[in-house]
Amino acid sequence: MRAVRFHERSGSDALTVEEVDEPSPAPGQILVDVEAAGVNRVDAVFAEGGFSEVYPHSRLQPPRLPHIPGSDFAGTVEAVGDGVRRFDVGDRVFGAGLGAKFPGTYAEKVAAPVSNVAHLPDGVSFESGAAIGHAGVTAWHSLVHHADVEPGDYCLVHGGSGGVGHVAVQLAAALGSRVVATAGSAEAREVIRELGAVDALDYAQSHDDLRESILDATEGGVDVILDYHLDDYFELDIEVSNLNGQVVVVEGGETGIDHQHLRLALWKDLTIQAAGMFNIPDMSAALTRLGRLLEDESLTVEIDRRFDLDEASEAQKAVENESYVGKLVIVP
Ligand SMILES: NC(=O)c1ccc[n+]([C@@H]2O[C@H](COP(=O)([O-])OP(=O)(O)OC[C@H]3O[C@@H](n4cnc5c(N)ncnc54)[C@H](OP(=O)(O)O)[C@@H]3O)[C@@H](O)[C@H]2O)c1
Repeated sequence: MRAVRFHERSGSDALTVEEVDEPSPAPGQILVDVEAAGVNRVDAVFAEGGFSEVYPHSRLQPPRLPHIPGSDFAGTVEAVGDGVRRFDVGDRVFGAGLGAKFPGTYAEKVAAPVSNVAHLPDGVSFESGAAIGHAGVTAWHSLVHHADVEPGDYCLVHGGSGGVGHVAVQLAAALGSRVVATAGSAEAREVIRELGAVDALDYAQSHDDLRESILDATEGGVDVILDYHLDDYFELDIEVSNLNGQVVVVEGGETGIDHQHLRLALWKDLTIQAAGMFNIPDMSAALTRLGRLLEDESLTVEIDRRFDLDEASEAQKAVENESYVGKLVIVP
């Protein structure tokens, strides 16, 4: 089969398409004929060495080389391993969380543990299934599992036009919260409003102006914040939070946080929670729920562009360097 691989940990430039042996499903795994693969920032991190080099205390070890990248996929089950009861040959499926411990999805076929897979409803395209995985599970893990968003809550999503952000906006709105999100362009802010945000704000304004805009838009305070620029926004998050507010962090940046921030947070009894989707032992329940939300159109996933397998390096660099709304997918 054709697959994208890297032989050295030197980032997105190292991705090449090669002819490799087809995987065979181990016990508890299924073999999937891949129709589409989602592209994520994390795939670039793994191509640079995996979390254990970028974050030395992570549990994730760098993948053995050569390695196939790619977290997300959708396709059709071609074979099932021993002990698999939930899936049959021919089922439409989608999944997430590969490309770290397991070989990834930038390939014509992938072997996936059933804990990382759900059935793809008939009305949902393979591309949508492939695009939702990593972003959707992260948004779910953050807003439902960690923050337990309630109807009526004010929810702030920093960067609401990104892969995670645009799903988080819709999920928080579907849960009944009033969502305010930020984005860098007027077009992206328009899309965010169409996706259900009560307001969309320009993140490029000064922090003082942004704080005032958030407080105006939220009747004076936010209950739940999803942050992936903690180095930029932690102080702002504390300032705009309501008493007993929650800040869920999915990425932190490298500098700018010190113990004084926790000292400030105690005045509001804030809960600060770090969420890592690769720590979820079984993603299938969240994936199943996301699939149903896609099916009944409570959730859409914006697909900005499609790439061939040969263009994986270009796709990966676009995720790292370009601005667009939603997700990119590779179609093998
Ligand atoms: N912890 C986890 O398990 C987990 C899982 C998934 C993702 N993540 C992390 O979460 C982050 C988002 O992932 P993603 O897949 O959604 O990435 P993405 O699709 O590239 O989205 C990034 C978003 O950040 C916005 N942005 C850039 N600079 C900003 C700023 N100064 N203030 C506010 N927003 C800003 C971008 O908006 P513009 O395009 O308008 O600049 C874009 O909407 C990444 O850092 C990723 O590593 C963590």
